Amino acid sequence: KKVVLAYSGGLDTSVIVPWLKENYGCEVVCFTADVGQGIKELDGLEQKAKASGASQLVVKDLTEEFVKDFIFPCLRAGAIYERKYLLGTSMARPVIAKAMVDVAAEVGADAVAHGCTGKGNDQVRFELTFFSLNPELKVVAPWREWEIQGREDAIEYAKKHNVPVPVTKKSIYSRDRNLWHLSHEGDILEDPANEPKKDMYMMSVDPEDAPDQPEYIEIGIESGLPVALNGMALSPATLLSELNTIGGKHGIGRIDMVENRLVGMKSRGVYETPGGTILFAAVQELESLTLDRESIQVKDSLALKYAEMVYAGRWFDPLKESMDAFMEKLTEKTTGSVTLKLYKGSVSVTGRKSPNSLYRQDISSFEGSEIYNQADAAGFIRLYGLPMRVRAMLEKGI
Ligand code: ARG
Ligand code: SIN
Repeated sequence: KKVVLAYSGGLDTSVIVPWLKENYGCEVVCFTADVGQGIKELDGLEQKAKASGASQLVVKDLTEEFVKDFIFPCLRAGAIYERKYLLGTSMARPVIAKAMVDVAAEVGADAVAHGCTGKGNDQVRFELTFFSLNPELKVVAPWREWEIQGREDAIEYAKKHNVPVPVTKKSIYSRDRNLWHLSHEGDILEDPANEPKKDMYMMSVDPEDAPDQPEYIEIGIESGLPVALNGMALSPATLLSELNTIGGKHGIGRIDMVENRLVGMKSRGVYETPGGTILFAAVQELESLTLDRESIQVKDSLALKYAEMVYAGRWFDPLKESMDAFMEKLTEKTTGSVTLKLYKGSVSVTGRKSPNSLYRQDISSFEGSEIYNQADAAGFIRLYGLPMRVRAMLEKGI
């Protein structure tokens, strides 16, 4: 009997270790994924896990995989949930859960456990991934089972079980950070009428305090995926982290919204996605040169479903995977570069170029053109408007 626990080193997951041993009589292997959340003191973390009673701590650096195989496909798909949310937490859960399934196989565990509450989306995302990748694993979700209600209970439980209480002071917000974003929920944000406090933000400056000089950057894109910044080829994670710095400096990518959680309730969240917001603007813009009208329409309509599925934790659903295949094929020719101007919280596109551009100045120009004959438009309009003419004739009894 062995369980792999998604472990952060915070109070909640520290208490879960002795709780699992007490209630399930199993060996606990802690697992920490690096998805760019900024893990402090890795050695300290192993000691901490063991002090809580874990037999070992496994740490895996998932940053490149996270950006390349999870974030970039969503970016290419143009996935946005409920008009605003760039899905930062939603994309991180399946990459972490997938790694937990691998670790379970490596250490011979028959169960996995996570510290998500029973009121949120994250539990669903973890568990749907476990189901998809190894339906035989047992899943334990202590927050849905135990008596512990809040921080005080957890501290008491820790003391009773001789588990050192993490010294890191708990923030008043519920936060989730990775290389793509930082989310804030809870405390004063629970009233949707309250403006977030200025000191809550961590990845971006207030647009009002951003530099008075705009900054121009150029994003290189290959087949719908970003590959370069200002002419320099960078790995997915490096590119994103550079853009987080640049975007954060200019106050880019703050989102404040009320969203519908999968479990039915509404919740208020504030997100910082500086680099992601820039990449979104760039990738979408290049499609204006490389995709025709109908392709963009179909792509955008599928993007809605795609985003909904990612939000709901259905990353490994064959429907979602098929949509990835569609997006990959459709954006095959979306190669080129986009120039953007960053200024006090805004990203504006100032230019776009592509060797596969469908834009032809010799056709679109107001100057005379060989390929486009204006006289053709008369017949086109007559036939295009035929149904409208027929209806109008009927109404008028013609
Ligand atoms: N509401 C967002 C989502 O469901 C963010 C969740 C943040 N998760 C967390 N455990 N704090 O994707
Ligand atoms: C939580 O469980 O911490 C709330 C966030 C979520 O899972 O939706």
